[in-house]
Amino acid sequence: MIGIPGVMLYFLCNHKKGLKTMKNNDVKEYYSGVVSGRYNSDYEKKRWSENSILKADFEMTRRSIKHALLNHSFDSCLEVGPGPGTWTKVLYDNNPKATYQLIDISEAMKDEFLKSFDKKTENITYDLSDFIVYNFTKEYDFFFSSRALEYFDNKQKFVDKVFLALSDGGCGCIISKNPMYSASKKEIRDFHAGQISATELKKILTSQGFKSVTCRPAIIRLPIISRWFGGLSNFLHMISMKLPLQIFPKRIIESYIITFKK
Ligand SMILES: C[S@@+](CC[C@H](N)C(=O)[O-])C[C@H]1O[C@@H](n2cnc3c(N)ncnc32)[C@H](O)[C@@H]1O
Repeated sequence: MIGIPGVMLYFLCNHKKGLKTMKNNDVKEYYSGVVSGRYNSDYEKKRWSENSILKADFEMTRRSIKHALLNHSFDSCLEVGPGPGTWTKVLYDNNPKATYQLIDISEAMKDEFLKSFDKKTENITYDLSDFIVYNFTKEYDFFFSSRALEYFDNKQKFVDKVFLALSDGGCGCIISKNPMYSASKKEIRDFHAGQISATELKKILTSQGFKSVTCRPAIIRLPIISRWFGGLSNFLHMISMKLPLQIFPKRIIESYIITFKK
């Protein structure tokens, strides 16, 4: 269903400056507009393979996730903001025996998931809810979230909830956009004003009690040349992705991956 309020929010966020960061509930409407509008109800394909930059972004993110998974085995996984399940497939292929609880606020995204996720599995449950108010019935030993944190109006509440959801010894992995990358752009969309730096997020995670908090690049975009040579950024990522985030110039890091342990 095309959400008219969602379409309106989409246009407001793309064409007007001066808006505040969205509240969690607005995100739901926003995505119903953005999925049927800009992405023409084919979110995953258009988001990750429409051009060479996005294809390179996809390869880099997948590589980063696979690397993060190397050191973590798990029986139960909680994923927040899976959208169409792009990275759920990577998690699942890596560990098909685990159970997966997916939570997303957007019905339009769940519809995309049902269309694109070809695996008929009983061990994946997709619930529609704002993660912040979701009632868990169990603890999970792995937490995953990609490119969703920036839409939460309160990062501390998000981290509190992750801490509650994870069992002792459980691990987590969050991918989020780097605000310093956007800062180099002339127009910063207010919708993304919710971006948090890896340093800030690390502080919140550490003060919450998480251990072994490690930040690495998830997507590298070399200025100007990325437009023509997405493969070069991808190559740079391949050879440098295991290095700590601090050594990279902040403006070439489009997004980072942060891993932690409870
Ligand atoms: C940019 S999409 C990311 C989709 C996918 N994880 C990826 O990396 O391509 C952000 C997703 O987070 C979801 N989301 C945003 N706020 C949320 C909230 N408060 N609770 C649950 N899901 C939320 C959105 O509905 C959307 O599906």
